[in-house]
Amino acid sequence: MSRVPLPYNPKILELFRNPKNLGRMEDATVTAVAGNPACGDMITFYLKINDQDVIERASFESYGCAANIATSSIVTEMVKGMKLEDAWKITWKSVVDAVGGLPSVKFHCGILAVGALKRAIRTYYKRKEFSPDWLQKEPSFEEKQALEEEELAEILSKRMKMEEEK
Ligand code: FES
Repeated sequence: MSRVPLPYNPKILELFRNPKNLGRMEDATVTAVAGNPACGDMITFYLKINDQDVIERASFESYGCAANIATSSIVTEMVKGMKLEDAWKITWKSVVDAVGGLPSVKFHCGILAVGALKRAIRTYYKRKEFSPDWLQKEPSFEEKQALEEEELAEILSKRMKMEEEK
């Protein structure tokens, strides 16, 4: 069976080949993971946040596809120097726009990247035991989607294990 390459735009291909801010951050203030190791689509986000709640640096590790690497990379660029309140307003749609568009089957890859960012912000305030007014109590769309994907991946991996044990 031959595989048809996805119509990625040149910006995505460039970010995939030369991603910015790729790698573990040893001195991160906060770290968040989204995705599931069982299916390989997993991102870790690292944020270095200062006393004014401004993101000084951001980096990521990704075992996802080209779209995931490209969107994660652009998110780390977008949030640099941003207050957490403004970073929270980033949506998966704005990220898809920033990479110049994605094939629709790859939207979830961008959603996961933003889900990881939002989880990191939420974790930061949870640890501080403080919830600013702008931080919505219920999960954002991207957080919900990340959770759904993780649950789905878990069900699938359980099913595969059961098949193997038969
Ligand atoms: Fe799963 Fe892109 S991260 S297909």
